[in-house]
Amino acid sequence: MYRSAPTTPQYKATARAGSNIAFIKYWGVADPRLNLPLNNSISMTLGALHSTTTVEWDTAGRLSADQITIDGERAEGKKAERVTQHLDLIRHLAGDRRFRARVVSRNNFPMASGIASSASAFAALTMAACAALNLNYDRTRLSAIARRGSGSASRSLFGGYVEWERGADDASSIARQLFPPDYWTLRDVVAIISTTEKAVSSQSGHMLAMSSPLNAGRIDSLYSALQEVRTALALRDLTRLGPIIEQDALAMHAVMMTSRPSLLYWQPGTLEVLHAVRRWREEDGFPVYFTIDAGPNVHLICEAAFERELLKRLQTLNNVRSVVTSGPGDGAEIIDQHLF
Ligand code: PMV
Repeated sequence: MYRSAPTTPQYKATARAGSNIAFIKYWGVADPRLNLPLNNSISMTLGALHSTTTVEWDTAGRLSADQITIDGERAEGKKAERVTQHLDLIRHLAGDRRFRARVVSRNNFPMASGIASSASAFAALTMAACAALNLNYDRTRLSAIARRGSGSASRSLFGGYVEWERGADDASSIARQLFPPDYWTLRDVVAIISTTEKAVSSQSGHMLAMSSPLNAGRIDSLYSALQEVRTALALRDLTRLGPIIEQDALAMHAVMMTSRPSLLYWQPGTLEVLHAVRRWREEDGFPVYFTIDAGPNVHLICEAAFERELLKRLQTLNNVRSVVTSGPGDGAEIIDQHLF
């Protein structure tokens, strides 16, 4: 009988994952160890803003510690620790804690642009690290693993419009696709106000949500808000989606501002954009809506047909330093081109 040549396992894989923008935000953890959120969240995966990550497990035992390079720079301190912790979890799942890893990751958007890179970074890291160990998990399982690195990363495993179910334990707190990317070509036009790294990371911010007297009110209102977003997506109705996403972004920032200690991510430029968006809608019905993550930059959501006009209008504002844009994209995927 003919025997095929034995294949040497490579222990190396590369994955690419898009960032995402939440329409209903994840803010606040119910279980910090498992990273279970207080509420479901819904997002759009961003096709044009992504992280690519190559992981190679050192089976020969040459490395004494994980070696992590992000955007050409060796990661150290807290940043490196967070990646190593995630690799520890994957080592644990593989039942082998010996292997150290070489990780090289690159974002196609500047980290200093204020676009959240943790979602795309932990989604790509999870997929690459598991594939390199031949752990053949499906997207749902990978989503649960990515969640442990960064909550929003659980959503980036899937493309298009995605809901992350809060869940009650590790296995049930997972994301799923609501609609594929081509179902509705919304645009996320990000008005960059500041590129300095935020003083309080979202990871620390999630721990403070419950200290705000407004948090319970926000959580109580989300059951109907989530339903309204699912319906607006199903109907592709921006005039229905827009007001809800604005309200939830403002509710999340109200919780942030009133937590102890208080988190104030907005800059004067943030307000300039919010007022402009409302003025444009009032003056000539220009159909654009805002949402804001844990930072000062404003994400403007509009239909593809209005993007050019929106870019023109943003140029008239004093505090918008630059703009990056994306439409909906696919979920994380394994690619052939390794970074080393
Ligand atoms: O995944 P984290 O821990 O970076 O938290 C993300 C928090 C927000 O971006 C503010 C909201 C969200 O749902 O993406």
